Amino acid sequence: MKPMYKTFYGFHEEPFNVTSDPEFFFSSTRHVEAFSHLIYAIEHRKGIVVITGEIGTGKTTLCRTLLTRLDPKIKSALILNPYFSDSQLLQLIIKDLGIEGKFKNKLELVNALNEFLIHESSQGHNVVLIIDEAQNLGVRQLEQIRLLSNLETEKAKLLQIVLVGQPELLAKLQLPSLRQLNQRITVRFHMLPLHRDEVGNYVHHRIKIACRATNGHLPVAFTPHAIETIYRHSQGTPRLINILCDRALLSGYVQETKTIDKDVVDQCVQEMQK
Ligand SMILES: Nc1ncnc2c1ncn2[C@@H]1O[C@H](COP(=O)(O)OP(=O)(O)O)[C@@H](O)[C@H]1O
Ligand SMILES: [Mg+2]
Repeated sequence: MKPMYKTFYGFHEEPFNVTSDPEFFFSSTRHVEAFSHLIYAIEHRKGIVVITGEIGTGKTTLCRTLLTRLDPKIKSALILNPYFSDSQLLQLIIKDLGIEGKFKNKLELVNALNEFLIHESSQGHNVVLIIDEAQNLGVRQLEQIRLLSNLETEKAKLLQIVLVGQPELLAKLQLPSLRQLNQRITVRFHMLPLHRDEVGNYVHHRIKIACRATNGHLPVAFTPHAIETIYRHSQGTPRLINILCDRALLSGYVQETKTIDKDVVDQCVQEMQK
């Protein structure tokens, strides 16, 4: 059914996939704010930044988009699902940063990373480590991260660390055993869902990207009432908006209409609640 709906509307890609594709990035107020916090912290070498947000608010999308927008002089590593031991975590970071070699133990791994950071710094380069789903890190891994943030010269932090996670991350950081790490966090930001008046632009932005519209003409439109209903059911959470819009487009295709109105959306909501 999906490929047929793509053809019906003339999409090159599915507009409401739930993957975190930077190509579809929508500059919502919250995402733009989160971005400026991140860029500020990285460029000013602030050490550790924490970004939190509920599931589906766009944290992973933010991380991936950040990587595409960083100055090419900034080297980066992105760890997506950190269910690893502390030395596995180090190995992954080293691999993602493109550091080559065989390292027998944790000490060798840390030394290799340190050498790399000093070398990059001497070239005027900055290095960023982003860890997504950081609420899944154990105390040992978080402590390892604090040790990495100790790598510094007299003048600046050598490694900028961005911890991204669900709100449980904040609770974890309050643990007495992580007090030292918690004290080092210089910038914190909490992602919220889209504002009510951003939902329509978000939906149409994704449609525009999916059909590669250059002249502003979209092959399908959601009416203002449909958008209002989508807002009510998603409370502005992009992930839920995507799921609902995908369904609504499928219904539109079945009913052979290119205008998605409130009735179509209501029907999808009902089906999803069954
Ligand atoms: N600013 C945004 N622009 C475009 N799509 C977004 C944005 N924020 C979230 N999304 C979409 O919402 C869905 C969930 O986003 P994701 O980044 O996976 O959330 P989280 O990591 O917070 O759970 C994805 O399909 C993603 O493409
Ligand atoms: Mg995510």
